[in-house]
Amino acid sequence: MELDGRVAVVTGGGSGIGRALCLALASRGCGGVVVADLDEVAAQTVAAEVEAAGGAALAVACDVGDPMQVDGLLHLAVERFGTVHLVCNNAGILRSGAAWETTLEEWDATFAVNVWGVVNGVRTFVPHLIAQGEGHVVNTASLAGLTAAPGLAAYNASKHAVVALSETLHRDLLVSGHAGVGVSVLCPGLVATPIVDDPVTRSGRTDVGRLIGEALAERIPTSMAPEEVAAAVLASVEDGRFYVLTHPEQTIAMVQQRFDDIVQGRVPAPGTSPD
Ligand SMILES: NC(=O)c1ccc[n+]([C@@H]2O[C@H](COP(=O)([O-])OP(=O)(O)OC[C@H]3O[C@@H](n4cnc5c(N)ncnc54)[C@H](O)[C@@H]3O)[C@@H](O)[C@H]2O)c1
Repeated sequence: MELDGRVAVVTGGGSGIGRALCLALASRGCGGVVVADLDEVAAQTVAAEVEAAGGAALAVACDVGDPMQVDGLLHLAVERFGTVHLVCNNAGILRSGAAWETTLEEWDATFAVNVWGVVNGVRTFVPHLIAQGEGHVVNTASLAGLTAAPGLAAYNASKHAVVALSETLHRDLLVSGHAGVGVSVLCPGLVATPIVDDPVTRSGRTDVGRLIGEALAERIPTSMAPEEVAAAVLASVEDGRFYVLTHPEQTIAMVQQRFDDIVQGRVPAPGTSPD
């Protein structure tokens, strides 16, 4: 889908990859960028950055885990810009911890944003895109949606759900004759954003939970720039590419190993970290 003159909604647009997406969309000529975030001040700051760069922006405070608020997001976007063409279901959180130590609150919080946030985005925006006859949905999963490193039980499970939902959405649209609505699933490796700044992220109580949280906190700041990820996403929307891999060699090697384990009936190797 061409981006020039189109209207985009980005959830989690107030920081990291979402912020980079908003700025890249504006510089690619989008007619409107809706910056949605739980953090209203962050959304307003990014909207101001988009406008300073010559784009048109709307900041919306929105908790993607709440279906009513996501419906409200569509309503506000249409009220301001007339329609929506591109939806980036990008908001996400990360909690580290071994499978048995992750608390019910951590499972709930992770799934509320990472899974229900995407489900709500799909349920609200896809009917609008179908009625319009064109559009594109980008769901942010992760390398953790294709492989399962230790210490990230809830995160891995949530991101696998996003990959499965995206693949199903793509096929549902095709078999129901709505090929004008495209889908991409973004599966980044480590990206330099504040996602691990939240102290709760490093809340692992066993060694595996703590170690993975600390390893991520150490490695993320020097990893890929979010601007590079945003450029890959925009190119994928324009080219109609489904899987968006920011670290293709590493990702494909890990996916291949998993596939080989399944085919050859091997027990998965311990693995070390998500990158
Ligand atoms: N940074 C990485 O290494 C990495 C790697 C793979 C995937 N991802 C995924 O990329 C996406 C963006 O993450 P990021 O790294 O830019 O993190 P980030 O913390 O910089 O940005 C996430 C944004 O989402 C917002 N948010 C959190 N809960 C929300 C909610 N309920 N409703 C609306 N907004 C909410 C936050 O306020 C924040 O502005 C996430 O889905 C994350 O899982 C990140």
